[in-house]
Amino acid sequence: MFACESLETSATFPMVRLRCAGDAVNAWLPLQQDWSSRICVLPERYSGSFANRVDALQTRQDDVFVVTFMKCGTTWMQELAWLLLNQLDFKRANSSYAMERSIFLEYSTIAANLPMDSIDACNQMPSPRLIKSHLPAQLLPRQLWQQKRKIIYVARNPKDCVVSSFHFVNGSGLWKGDFDTFVDDFINNKILYTSYWTHIVDFWRMRHEPHIFFVTYEQMKRDLKQVIEQLSAFLGVNSLNAQQMEQLLQHLKFDNMKQSKYTNLTGLLKETQNVSADFEFMRRGIVGSFKDELSVEQRQKLDAWTAEFLSAYNLKESDIFGQL
Ligand code: A3P
Repeated sequence: MFACESLETSATFPMVRLRCAGDAVNAWLPLQQDWSSRICVLPERYSGSFANRVDALQTRQDDVFVVTFMKCGTTWMQELAWLLLNQLDFKRANSSYAMERSIFLEYSTIAANLPMDSIDACNQMPSPRLIKSHLPAQLLPRQLWQQKRKIIYVARNPKDCVVSSFHFVNGSGLWKGDFDTFVDDFINNKILYTSYWTHIVDFWRMRHEPHIFFVTYEQMKRDLKQVIEQLSAFLGVNSLNAQQMEQLLQHLKFDNMKQSKYTNLTGLLKETQNVSADFEFMRRGIVGSFKDELSVEQRQKLDAWTAEFLSAYNLKESDIFGQL
């Protein structure tokens, strides 16, 4: 079912490259291509029984999945989608952790010493479930595709994603090294969840499937109200009146989510994981942090890599993310 090769990386635990294998690989996916050529870098403890359990996850008719490459705005979208699915229950949103209201499917394989199995936790969630995953299309539970469960996919431009991912994995102790090495390893698929571009492009090419809501972090920053309206229609929830919309927009503001311990996981991760003293889970929350955080050489490398990858699909970065 899965083929895996071990990988030398600067991650602080053993990593593998995982690909789907076998006859008629991933025939349930709506996009026909050679899915066995797609790789994903994951902790070694993901391969084996955990991978099979994810594949076999029983889904429910009213499940919604939030799927992203890491650091693309997952928490922001989870908070929005959870509130829409729960009749704007701000009281609960302001008194319980986002990561408990919306469970991270493969979290057990990433966080050290987690006192629970994240797949069991998903199975125990009351409906309607909002499940988070950073897995690429080919590794998501097959029922998601066979039963056409709702998927919200958030993409973010590669350079901001690289900057945000570096601060996250370095600060949280998942990976150790300097920024130049990180950029090279990101491009060469040696960082957790890479390959970045296949993750994004596969969902971009499936974005018109009726059960997929494809949106970018950049769109959310440009016009969150419009995204909320479109997402409400996708989820089949009542559209909001002006006052509800205003309350929701206020709640989702970066500064508001940053000051809440229930959405900004800095405090929780400091208590439970081996993160550095200056670690920030919510850092800047802007489009374009690459402009003052990447060197000219790093930027050129990333742009050349992007242009080469996307040319095979006749795409430019701005087709997906607009002008940055
Ligand atoms: P930065 O590191 O660039 O600040 P994820 O939730 O997928 O881990 O994504 C994290 C990124 O989303 C971080 O980016 C974080 O600051 C940003 N983010 C989280 N909440 C946000 C919000 N309400 N508005 C804008 N950006 C937000």
